[in-house]
Amino acid sequence: MVPIDMSGKVAIITGAGRGLGRASALKFAQAGADVVIVDVVMENAQSVAKEAQALGVRSKAYATDVTDADAMEKMVDEVVAEFGRLDVMFNNAGVNVITSFVDSTLEQMKWLEDVNLFGVYNGCKAAVKHMLAQGGGVILNTSSQAGVVGAKGHTPYTPSKFAVRGLTQTMALELGPKNIRVNAICPGIIRTPMWEQNLDQMLEGDAAKDPARRDETFNSTIQARTPLQRPQTEDDIANACLFLVSDMSLNVTGQSLLVNGGLTMT
Ligand SMILES: NC(=O)c1ccc[n+]([C@@H]2O[C@H](COP(=O)([O-])OP(=O)(O)OC[C@H]3O[C@@H](n4cnc5c(N)ncnc54)[C@H](O)[C@@H]3O)[C@@H](O)[C@H]2O)c1
Repeated sequence: MVPIDMSGKVAIITGAGRGLGRASALKFAQAGADVVIVDVVMENAQSVAKEAQALGVRSKAYATDVTDADAMEKMVDEVVAEFGRLDVMFNNAGVNVITSFVDSTLEQMKWLEDVNLFGVYNGCKAAVKHMLAQGGGVILNTSSQAGVVGAKGHTPYTPSKFAVRGLTQTMALELGPKNIRVNAICPGIIRTPMWEQNLDQMLEGDAAKDPARRDETFNSTIQARTPLQRPQTEDDIANACLFLVSDMSLNVTGQSLLVNGGLTMT
């Protein structure tokens, strides 16, 4: 048996109050890591921190908005002071709005850049100074399948997620010699609350309230285009994230790992 052992490591995960961030945080905790749960929704963050504690690791919740650079720096400084170190910074928090280019607004563009790109930047900036001081660390940033190829209806989203990959590659180049690995995870299609919001916007009126129409829309979106013909699960993504933050990927940096059933190949 080859175990993935994260015991003694400290990980911060943003947007971990639900969805993929929660699944990854609990996966890291199952591997033995202490996990710091960051989300704008404190109630959710606290609930996930309790779930992690039940797995036998230290965990703490923070209601920190990733778009607030000062608050992110303060949060990370406090974590390092309290937990003693920082091994993993997982910048996962993200938002989406479904709109065509024609209907999109500059306000939407700025909002998604603010959370999906500058939020990632703020997390990296706050973490790297500690990783430099301690001689290494791992950063994982959430991009998307829609950060690798264009996606209809995702005008504000795709540029923000493409940019995350650019930031990831440049940081990997500069920080590799300092023993800091920087990678991106590119999830495909997972039916988290974010996707339920997507379906609200893809369907109109009564159709959006009909569970059968919602299932049909979701399944047809996937089956037509995916070689493995199934959506991804939160666990699929969490497993890949665990690989990327663990010592199993010690020689992997600057990469964007697509976990998408083969929907897009690079
Ligand atoms: N679900 C998918 O199909 C999918 C596909 C590709 C990429 N992604 C990406 O994966 C990440 C997680 O997605 P998810 O599906 O779990 O979404 P989700 O909406 O279920 O969870 C996102 C979490 O981030 C939190 N959040 C939002 N803005 C924040 C902010 N400013 N500061 C701190 N926390 C904030 C939310 O409160 C929420 O708990 C996102 O970056 C998303 O873009 C998701």
